[in-house]
Amino acid sequence: MAKPIAILTAGGDCPGINAVIRAVTKTAMNDFNLNVIGVEDGFLGLIEGRWRHLAYNDVSGIITHGGTILGTSNKGNPFRYPAASGAGFEDVSDRVMANFERLGASSLIAVGGDGTLKICEKLSGKGMPIIGIPKTIDNDVDCTDYTFGFDSAVGVATDAVDRLHTTAQSHHRVMMVEVMGRYAGWLALYSGVAGGGDIILIPEIKFQVDAVCRTLLQRSRRGKRFSIVVVAEGARTETGDLVVSRLVTDSTDSIRLGGIAQVLGAKIEQNTELETRVAVLGHLQRGGPPTAFDRVLATRFGREAATLAAGGAKGLVVVFRCQDITTATLEEVTANLKTVPQDHALVKTARSTGVSFGE
Ligand code: F6P
Repeated sequence: MAKPIAILTAGGDCPGINAVIRAVTKTAMNDFNLNVIGVEDGFLGLIEGRWRHLAYNDVSGIITHGGTILGTSNKGNPFRYPAASGAGFEDVSDRVMANFERLGASSLIAVGGDGTLKICEKLSGKGMPIIGIPKTIDNDVDCTDYTFGFDSAVGVATDAVDRLHTTAQSHHRVMMVEVMGRYAGWLALYSGVAGGGDIILIPEIKFQVDAVCRTLLQRSRRGKRFSIVVVAEGARTETGDLVVSRLVTDSTDSIRLGGIAQVLGAKIEQNTELETRVAVLGHLQRGGPPTAFDRVLATRFGREAATLAAGGAKGLVVVFRCQDITTATLEEVTANLKTVPQDHALVKTARSTGVSFGE
């Protein structure tokens, strides 16, 4: 039998990863008679030599399950790995290359966000045959219209906005909802529009506290006795700093955002005397079953990646453009983060329907 294909899932999890693992494994077995090896816990598995054979039954019945059966980690950057001495970091990429050789796969399918794909690009430069699959609730990977996981997170956030609407209405309050998304406002924009938010604050459009307060007071004067503000964790004012919740030094990107809603909520209450409450959705947005859209997208990605790997392709990422599954190079995908253009169609639509971006 020909060499197996290896797969790993790295970085923050999201709904749809199991659907990808399932599609890769089934396609490899059904269409190419190839075995699949699952590397455990992202790149940590390649650093520490942990992987296992995936049997057909291992991937059966998992399309509906959130998380990843292989485990994941955002701490296994082979180029910046905590040094064995305990002080600082070291480059263990040669160990990763040697372990990959030992594993005996023809290629590696890596499922991850921008951090993972950047690592892939470097490993690819060292000669590892890699096919990337873009996943993240942030939808910030370039060259693809959507990453899988995003639609599911939008669904969770929209559901939360819906629920907060009724309680905000009953109590005549301002309700702030903080959603994830790192440096991109996609999640806030989509869930804000879908949930009928009154103010949407995203990293790409700097807001002014005064403008936010003014909008809320205007609504109140017009007889609107409640307001919904959807704020991205990466939103900030022209002069304000990002609100950081913690630093994870051994992670690919050490900054963890979070807390802007609390900071802004206090200012709103102080400046407007409108009673304000804050809800931070956090990791709820990454859990639970994937939506039908994400299951289909993940399955199409997985099938394409397995087909490319079986055909000997490398250095590519499968992407979704204009309803088609196609490819971009690792270099193209990792060159820029995909943020919300200020003139994006959905920003215009939101403005036309009365949404304020706090300017
Ligand atoms: O990239 C996905 C994401 O959920 C971001 O939206 C968020 O900023 C970050 O990961 C949280 O990371 P962690 O799970 O390490 O707290």
